[in-house]
Amino acid sequence: MKKVMVIGSGAREHTIAKTFLKSSKVQEVVVVPGNPGMGAPGITTKVLDTNDFASLIKFAQDEAISLTFVGNEVPLVAGIVDAFNNAHLAIFGPKQQAAQLEGSKAFMKRILTENEIPTAKSITVTSLAAAQQAVTEIGYPVVIKTDELAAGKGVSIHQEKIETSEFLEFMYQKNLNHKLIIEEYLAGFEFSLFSFVGKNQIVNAPLAHDYKRRFAGDKGPNTGGMGSYSPVAQVSDTDLSRTISELVLPTIAALKKEKIDYEGVLYTGVMLTKNGPKVIEYNVRLGDPETQVVLPQLESDFYDLITGLLQGKAVKPKWQTKNKFVGVVLSDPDYPIKTSGQHELPKFKEQLDVDIASCEIEAGNLYSHGGRVLTVVNAGTTMEIARDLIYHELDRINTKLAYRSDIAELSDKKEAID
Ligand code: AMP
Ligand code: GLY
Repeated sequence: MKKVMVIGSGAREHTIAKTFLKSSKVQEVVVVPGNPGMGAPGITTKVLDTNDFASLIKFAQDEAISLTFVGNEVPLVAGIVDAFNNAHLAIFGPKQQAAQLEGSKAFMKRILTENEIPTAKSITVTSLAAAQQAVTEIGYPVVIKTDELAAGKGVSIHQEKIETSEFLEFMYQKNLNHKLIIEEYLAGFEFSLFSFVGKNQIVNAPLAHDYKRRFAGDKGPNTGGMGSYSPVAQVSDTDLSRTISELVLPTIAALKKEKIDYEGVLYTGVMLTKNGPKVIEYNVRLGDPETQVVLPQLESDFYDLITGLLQGKAVKPKWQTKNKFVGVVLSDPDYPIKTSGQHELPKFKEQLDVDIASCEIEAGNLYSHGGRVLTVVNAGTTMEIARDLIYHELDRINTKLAYRSDIAELSDKKEAID
């Protein structure tokens, strides 16, 4: 029997741990650092600094960990896979060079544009004058992104000149050489595709849709994600095939040309525009909260899938097709601006699956610790059935935590792409 280590502490990592535990080969999953809401028979947590690779390697060796799976991007961008490989430990994820696809938007944009892979037109700038010139070239609405990792919050969309100039002046007040990406706004329907990439093979998970904005009706600031559903009826088989053949495979080939072999999860954030699918972003790990509605659909063995990919054995994962999955995120009421305080985590009906992200334990009770706190997930034969039970429960429990009231509301209908 095997022991698996999952790196990370969010609701996504909780789902990953539960999915590994379903494998007949896995006896125990250790989540590092995890959180106090994850503990269950077969799942333990260990608080270690996930950027201290020497300690993680020693722990993996001492505990005879057979496989490490990295949930979040920070250790990947910092080179955890290279470090584990050097210590001859099995780990699934891209190496540091490949992880730049998420770590640097400027790198990602260069790979795409040099290889004519469809994406929003963009200009990378490092001064206020160049940024203003780039905005004039791109036109409105304009999207402005910071180059570094920002947990989904380094992006803003601007509609008009005076407000954009004020924003840019503010950005360059803090740092005269700030690297920004000034980008064309893409209208359309956004979806997430997770590809599991191994040596000479790639398999895809069911599509998911994520709600990035904080408030119902897609209002308010961008967040890490306030809810999700899967599968995604709005994307046809043809659009999915085009996404794979025009975006995903050419990106992996483009990296190969630069002697970068991509292995691990590749998350393509796609905008389905009236001119076809285009890349909005690449991430080098699973998405949160999409994972919470995608991984429960895996009917075959997750440990076999990941070790098969690592060892270059042909894999054929089996995904359910009967049910629709909905996940609603509960967050601190003041997320993503600040933390309002500690709130007791609600208790849901057992039928609902709860993946816990941010919490502390006091006298046996769990309290929120800011940010996104948990994802509550349900499955049903229609999206409506799946979501109704979640919202019914949320009405009943009357929590102080905040959530969007419109997750999966429109998802059974085909939305118009403008
Ligand atoms: P990113 O950090 O690049 O993933 O962007 C976060 C979110 O901002 C995306 O998921 C989109 O919803 C939105 N966004 C980013 N770039 C664009 C764009 N060029 N056009 C429209 N929306 C965008
Ligand atoms: N749900 C968006 C992300 O994981 O980046």
